[in-house]
Amino acid sequence: MNSPQCVVIAITGASASGKSLIARTIYDELRRDLGTEQIAVINEDAYYHDQSHMTMEERVKTNYDHPKSMDHELLRQDLLKLKSGKEIQIPKYSYTEHTRLADTTSITPKKVIILEGILLLTDPKLRELFDASVFMDTPLDICFLRRLQRDVEERERTMESVISQYKQTVRPMFLQFIEPSKQHADIIVPRGGKNRIATDILKTRIQHLLAK
Ligand code: C5P
Ligand code: MG
Repeated sequence: MNSPQCVVIAITGASASGKSLIARTIYDELRRDLGTEQIAVINEDAYYHDQSHMTMEERVKTNYDHPKSMDHELLRQDLLKLKSGKEIQIPKYSYTEHTRLADTTSITPKKVIILEGILLLTDPKLRELFDASVFMDTPLDICFLRRLQRDVEERERTMESVISQYKQTVRPMFLQFIEPSKQHADIIVPRGGKNRIATDILKTRIQHLLAK
């Protein structure tokens, strides 16, 4: 018997480049046709390594923009499970606690999984599992401005801590790992998550893959 069909789309790019927005837009529009049970968005951030054994002081020092900060092996195993029709438990992540919470979210197998995260295309083993991949090529100054506002408003950070983290890890890791991973993307999207044509192209591709 063939394994149940599951289309996996990866959306990557710099922090605050519009990944979540385009993922959400595609999700909202496709679930009207497919039904809420048949599509899900998974955030790569849920797969940061568990740091619950570390002190808060140690956790803030972690480089959250290095590929090693992610438990990509767990993400790979979970994607394989979904592709073979099994339910998975996704860790819940807290940006204020800097670790996974004890709680998990269960995801039943879907026709479409939209994965979004900064480091998805840096991992060759993960890349094998994507049916299509997208790199959000939003100018870095725009990303930084958005991140500063978001982290202060939504992730309980101070302006000083956002600026210092940006200089120490976010920007250097983007240049070292994330930007070079653009070469592995099928589609490069300028201007961010509101790019309507890119959204439509992706939706059409997903529908085409589902019809196969
Ligand atoms: O939503 P976005 O793609 O911006 O989320 C990824 C960013 O979250 C990374 O650039 C990383 O620096 C940041 N992060 C953080 N603190 C954590 C975990 C991730 O600032 N505990
Ligand atoms: Mg995001």
